[in-house]
Amino acid sequence: MYNPFSLEGKTILVTGASSGIGKATAIECSKMGARVIITGRNEIRLQETYNNLEKADHLMIVSDLSDDIGIKNIISQLPVLDGVVHCAGITNNLPFQFASREKLDEIMIVNFYAPVEITRQAIKTKKINKNSSIVFISSISGVFTSSVALSIYSASKGALNGLIKGLALDMAIKGIRVNSVNPGVVETNIFHSGVITDDQLEVEKKRYPLKRFGQPEEIAFAAIYLLSDASKWVTGTNLLIDGGFTLQ
Ligand SMILES: NC(=O)c1ccc[n+]([C@@H]2O[C@H](COP(=O)([O-])OP(=O)(O)OC[C@H]3O[C@@H](n4cnc5c(N)ncnc54)[C@H](OP(=O)(O)O)[C@@H]3O)[C@@H](O)[C@H]2O)c1
Repeated sequence: MYNPFSLEGKTILVTGASSGIGKATAIECSKMGARVIITGRNEIRLQETYNNLEKADHLMIVSDLSDDIGIKNIISQLPVLDGVVHCAGITNNLPFQFASREKLDEIMIVNFYAPVEITRQAIKTKKINKNSSIVFISSISGVFTSSVALSIYSASKGALNGLIKGLALDMAIKGIRVNSVNPGVVETNIFHSGVITDDQLEVEKKRYPLKRFGQPEEIAFAAIYLLSDASKWVTGTNLLIDGGFTLQ
């Protein structure tokens, strides 16, 4: 059947696949025919994602991205890839005046340095095929908007958006495309971890023109578009998916 969004024959690495957007992305990619390599820290939840993957022959790697050992562990087990979706990330409700160097490192290491290092080491060890697609899950924060107490998180995502522009240029010679997806609030654990209260979330929801938050699958579908041959002339783009939030 004709399907320009098919991922048949492609091997895709998805980080942060034990929860939320990463979990949905891994599952949806497998439904589109991809072989997926999934990573996360929590083995039980990662196994749950694995059990929900379509077809067989996928690979699961339990690893912490906040240190070099964890990243090396992933790189050493990687097959040659046709795509990467960097989903792993953390948020932190942190008024700037309370930010310490330690807190700054905590966020930057997982949200920025880890995806940069995985990409760099995968390219260096020739684990990324020609004509592959690399997708960074960024945010509306730090690119189109921000919120009180989100300056450091915004900085980590703004840095990613800057990175993809230059990286897209560096990789174009190999036909490797580099893009980001920039979601507004999506209903995942990241916003039910006590960082934001349920009352605050209800107030926030009303600010969305489409009157709801996003679902993880709605971000996964954007990643599938960017991974597929349907987007093979798209590179260096920041794809905004926010239910109209940044229009007003
Ligand atoms: N949800 C939103 O509203 C929203 C909006 C814009 C952007 N984003 C971005 O989307 C991405 C996914 O967020 P989500 O909402 O799906 O969050 P989530 O449900 O909390 O999932 C986060 C994922 O990142 C992994 N992770 C965190 N720290 C890690 C570490 N040190 N090493 C390895 N893996 C680590 C987690 O693994 P374990 O659970 O196994 O530890 C989990 O799989 C993040 O980059 C986030 O910034 C989210």
